[in-house]
Amino acid sequence: MATASASLPRDHDWWRTAVVYQIYPRSFADSDGDGIGDLAGLTSRVGYLRRLGVDAVWLSPFYPSALADGGYDIDDHRAVDPRLGSLADFDAMTAALHEAGLRVIVDIVPNHSSNRHRWFLEALAAAKGSPARQRYIFRDGRGPDQSEPPNDWKGAFGGSAWEAVGDGQFYLHLFAPEQPDWNWDNPEVRADHLETLHFWADRGVDGFRVDVAVALAKDLSEPLLSAAELAWRPAGPDHPLYDRDELDEIYAQWRTVFNQYDPPRSAVGEAWLSDHDRLARYARPDSLGQVFDFDLLRADFDARAYRDRIAPALARAAHLGSSLTWVLSNHDVVRHASRFGLPPLGPEADNSKSEARDAAWLKSGGQEPAEDTGLGLRRARAAVGCLLALPGSVCLYQGEELGLREVVDMPAEARQDPIFFRSDGVGRDGCRVPLPWQADGPSLGFGPGPAHLPQPDWFADFAVTVEEADPESTLSFYRLALAVRRHLLRQLPRPGDPMGLEWLRAPVGALHFRRPGGWHCLVNFTAPPFPLPAGEVLTASGPLPDDKLPEATTVWLRS
Ligand code: NOJ
Repeated sequence: MATASASLPRDHDWWRTAVVYQIYPRSFADSDGDGIGDLAGLTSRVGYLRRLGVDAVWLSPFYPSALADGGYDIDDHRAVDPRLGSLADFDAMTAALHEAGLRVIVDIVPNHSSNRHRWFLEALAAAKGSPARQRYIFRDGRGPDQSEPPNDWKGAFGGSAWEAVGDGQFYLHLFAPEQPDWNWDNPEVRADHLETLHFWADRGVDGFRVDVAVALAKDLSEPLLSAAELAWRPAGPDHPLYDRDELDEIYAQWRTVFNQYDPPRSAVGEAWLSDHDRLARYARPDSLGQVFDFDLLRADFDARAYRDRIAPALARAAHLGSSLTWVLSNHDVVRHASRFGLPPLGPEADNSKSEARDAAWLKSGGQEPAEDTGLGLRRARAAVGCLLALPGSVCLYQGEELGLREVVDMPAEARQDPIFFRSDGVGRDGCRVPLPWQADGPSLGFGPGPAHLPQPDWFADFAVTVEEADPESTLSFYRLALAVRRHLLRQLPRPGDPMGLEWLRAPVGALHFRRPGGWHCLVNFTAPPFPLPAGEVLTASGPLPDDKLPEATTVWLRS
């Protein structure tokens, strides 16, 4: 059984404080000019990741897929999409990352396969009620000729959550029709996923990101609830689809697998739950051990909003002995440099409404509202400065270190996201545009040919080569902040108190906290500029004119 590479420290707790860089492989770096990023392209950029100073990379799916949902529709969970390379390329990439001191996290998508998975093709060819159909969720249609879906549920991307297969039966898909949901009551499905975990862990993968971690277990006993009844029922043990207690057993089995490795493989759950007590179940050491904390991703750029989310999260983590995984952006949401330029929802606002606000903004054509279009980026830098100073782990999304904004001006014919095709939403392509590595060339250094999603002209201003040459750039800020963070964390007494944070007084509209080791972080969200406290400036997200901390700026100090 594979152990960690010799170049990585044998640290069982690395994931608790790791800075993880999310790579959307098809948009990161293209080695062969087919317009699609690939594993060899990624390997060629390991030096960039090492210089950036992150601890790990998380790869969104790189498995064979028809790309009905950006690769989250998986034909074979134990193979590499030939357009992205081969298993040998995967091994070479893992070796290069490990050699550079970076860990590798892969995406596991256990709620659904693609409709091209061999087991789904078998199910379609098999008779009603056959064992092959029991691996998925098939139900009889309603109406005299069984032509109506079993009920009125909608898929997450719009349209019915049921798809007819032509013999009176329908299958359930919580996402696109090309993503049939697995039946997790079936022991074969459970065993197959354990095999997938072993497959990647044996290849030296250090951890797993678990897609839609709360949806696997389902209770579809008759009568099925209507969509309206479902909408009113909070996720939790009584909800037929989300966050059911049966998940405990599934993840306990997974944990047993993770712990068979040395060091144990880590896992982080994608769980968009608003009930923090329920969320905590997935972060338990006998479960996944970690969940993304999406609270700050959904918060306005506002001191009170941040403190109201950070303080209870820290208290919960301390109580449970778990850690936190902060995140501002990923491949599913409007890039935060754009979000932070939008009008705030206000401190009392319902968190979940921010997604509706962002979607409405995209649909309206995505004009940045302020005359000062740099505001979103200044806030973005200040916010990540705050996150990187917090106890816990931080997950960055590729391109945020360049300060990229959402690409809104994209022709309909270029779009790929099922949300665009199945609903009246614009979708998520705007945050998945291939990275600009240089200011010229057919795809700004992404690859030798044009990119699979068009890059706007302004991307050239954010190219890696441009920002590397500018000490004030967003990239330079990220590199310095990550280097300082690494240095400061090294000074924490081991095992120490990596979760420690003490709030200090700050002007209204600002936050100030101290971390163990005598350093502190001051974030001015919206206050007028105020004098910096005494201390050595370790890094700042922007200029500090007259030794004052201006609005939308974060500084780290040692006193
Ligand atoms: C969450 C993933 O992040 C998203 O991109 C995907 O569309 C859904 N899960 C379905 O797999």
